[in-house]
Amino acid sequence: PRVLVLAGGLSYERDVSLRSGRRVADALAAAGLDVELRDVDVTLLPYLSAERPDVVFPAVHGSPGEDGSLPGVLDVVGVPYVGATARAARLAWDKATTKSILSDAGIATPPWVTLPHSTFSELGAQSLLDHIVARLGLPLVVKPVHGGSGLGVAAVRSADALPAAMVGAFSYAPTVLIERYVPGVDVAVSVLDEGDGPHALPAVEIEPPDGNYDYAARYTAGITTWHCPARLPEKVLDEVAETAVRVHASLGLRDLSRIDMIVGADGDIQVLEANTAPGMTETSLLPMAVEAAGRRLGSVLHNLAARASG
Ligand code: DAL
Ligand code: MG
Repeated sequence: PRVLVLAGGLSYERDVSLRSGRRVADALAAAGLDVELRDVDVTLLPYLSAERPDVVFPAVHGSPGEDGSLPGVLDVVGVPYVGATARAARLAWDKATTKSILSDAGIATPPWVTLPHSTFSELGAQSLLDHIVARLGLPLVVKPVHGGSGLGVAAVRSADALPAAMVGAFSYAPTVLIERYVPGVDVAVSVLDEGDGPHALPAVEIEPPDGNYDYAARYTAGITTWHCPARLPEKVLDEVAETAVRVHASLGLRDLSRIDMIVGADGDIQVLEANTAPGMTETSLLPMAVEAAGRRLGSVLHNLAARASG
């Protein structure tokens, strides 16, 4: 099929997306498909109407890729695409919505509160933050309620550090998610459905040098150490795989996702979030897991494109 790979857009993760898009396009071309790579800009709609590709492979992170608007547009134009539907993407885009759905499904996720900017400024910041610390304890993790690549995320070890962390997170989203910090091993499990039902790839264990998996640690080679499969007991590896597939299904995701979680010292699993447009860069985790499984990225992505184009 003729595949249009979309990348770029104007989100905070534009650069990451351009790298993901290049790799997806190269992998699909190597698998023998007729591939075009385009940015997401005002020329997209006229192009889609005129050229009608058989299938779109979105490699667009942040908004409008992961917030559901791009799939919504593709639905309107009537071009099939790989990945989450607009509705499912919207649910997974909002980390608090994701956590509510997972809790309802009996999947553990660290305790949290959300704070919209208006509440933060109207109710008197300090007393509100004191309540949050009393309820969730310390340390905490402060994040924009949506977004990715670690942007605006900060670990907070004392109540004094909370206001600055909130301001940092508010620069990426109008609502902040404050979550209890759970000690343990950071693990990312990619889920694929190549037409035979969702299955998990080998878990990737993330070992950033100082425990801080920030933007630089994610995308600069040589900073973070990754282990795939994760250095966990066989039984725990089975459990993280099973949990990832359950999360994928609970959120109604399609084709591919990457589920990020923490495994505590006693083996208990806490899910942090689901990524509907997982990074595909040279240092990203889904491609790493594909290789660890002894597969070729192009063959996997080809299968996803074939599923989507029917
Ligand atoms: N948001 C980045 C691209 C990821 O989750 O991989
Ligand atoms: Mg993410």
